[in-house]
Amino acid sequence: MSHNTFGHLFRVTTWGESHGPAIGCVVDGCPPMMPLEAADLQVFLDQRRPGQNRFTTQRQEPDEVKILSGVMIDEVTGKQVTTGTPLGLFIENVDQRSKDYGEIKSQYRPGHADFAYDAKYGVRDYRGGGRSSARETAMRVAAGGIARKVLDGVTIRGALVQMGPHKIDRANWDWSEVGNNPFFCPDAKAAALWENYLDGVRKTGSSCGAVIELVAEGVPPGWGAPIYGKLDAELASALMSINAVKAVEIGDGMAVAGLSGEENADEMRMGNDGKPLFLSNHAGGVLGGVSTGQPVVARFAVKPTSSILTPRRSIDKFGGEVDIRTKGRHDPCVGIRAVPVGEAMMAIVLADAFLRHRGQNGAGPVWPASRGGRATTED
Ligand SMILES: Cc1cc2nc3c(=O)[nH]c(=O)nc-3n(C[C@H](O)[C@H](O)[C@H](O)COP(=O)(O)O)c2cc1C
Repeated sequence: MSHNTFGHLFRVTTWGESHGPAIGCVVDGCPPMMPLEAADLQVFLDQRRPGQNRFTTQRQEPDEVKILSGVMIDEVTGKQVTTGTPLGLFIENVDQRSKDYGEIKSQYRPGHADFAYDAKYGVRDYRGGGRSSARETAMRVAAGGIARKVLDGVTIRGALVQMGPHKIDRANWDWSEVGNNPFFCPDAKAAALWENYLDGVRKTGSSCGAVIELVAEGVPPGWGAPIYGKLDAELASALMSINAVKAVEIGDGMAVAGLSGEENADEMRMGNDGKPLFLSNHAGGVLGGVSTGQPVVARFAVKPTSSILTPRRSIDKFGGEVDIRTKGRHDPCVGIRAVPVGEAMMAIVLADAFLRHRGQNGAGPVWPASRGGRATTED
């Protein structure tokens, strides 16, 4: 299986399966002399960690990350810093329970990757879904923690804005609420309602989908590239690569189709600080594939968990027809733990875009007006 690597200059390669002894990743291209401790990554892993409340899978994984390579103690500061060499990250799997999967060894869960993997490879690690398990996303979150450190001055936050059919009231949006409920929900009222809703879904052996919104603030103008390296295209690809994601929107996304040209155009004025001021952000902070300095906004939709207790019709690998009930431990709404995963993917894309921008343009000013209107670099 190829394609386990993501990114260009900031490059992440993950390995490992749900029920193997461990998972890991290599992060290559990280700048040297950046202070980095495992604890810097653990905070984000703790947000994604399973088994923290009744609304996520009861698999108990401490997800304790170790940094195996690419760091050493800086003699001057006494702090652990990156050396510019590949960073090797490692997490042990400690709570595998493969017997839960005995029944689906030869049966295909509808909506999961089982049939497609068998059709492609002729062999499938049925234990917890093997490589198709979202266990792999723990390494994305760890790598995302490193990306965040590369992105000094950029704040990346995510929130669940819809659970099943229930949307938040955007008028109640309060970022400080996100940490106060088990759903990463920015609307306290909606979070309270979702508790009852998700309890009902869980008890009936069903599952539900969700929508997550990501916002990156502090991204300067100029990151991303036209045509094949568009920042929005890379974000869409990164978010779509997350398990169970079926749709991605940038800025107003699908809703732009219903706007008039006047409504959609993000008008500009000069701000008091001498910098361009956008009067709206329908574009989600990206124009022509390049960041504008506005917040970068993306949303993604996650489908309902396919492993459910309610029997579903399917087939097995011998061509027989079966009714399948998936036991084992599963998230009733995988969108919840997808929030830190989405943030991590956004961080990786932005860190990669930043390093590539710096590689091509250095640290120099990019907007002609900031150099008296001159478009050249003759000075
Ligand atoms: C954080 C997270 C946790 C997940 N947990 C489960 C789970 O417990 N059970 C399950 O069937 N799918 C789970 N999934 C989704 C599957 O991994 C995914 O549906 C499967 O790999 C098929 O890929 P696709 O949905 O992208 O086509 C999870 C996804 C995410 C993002």
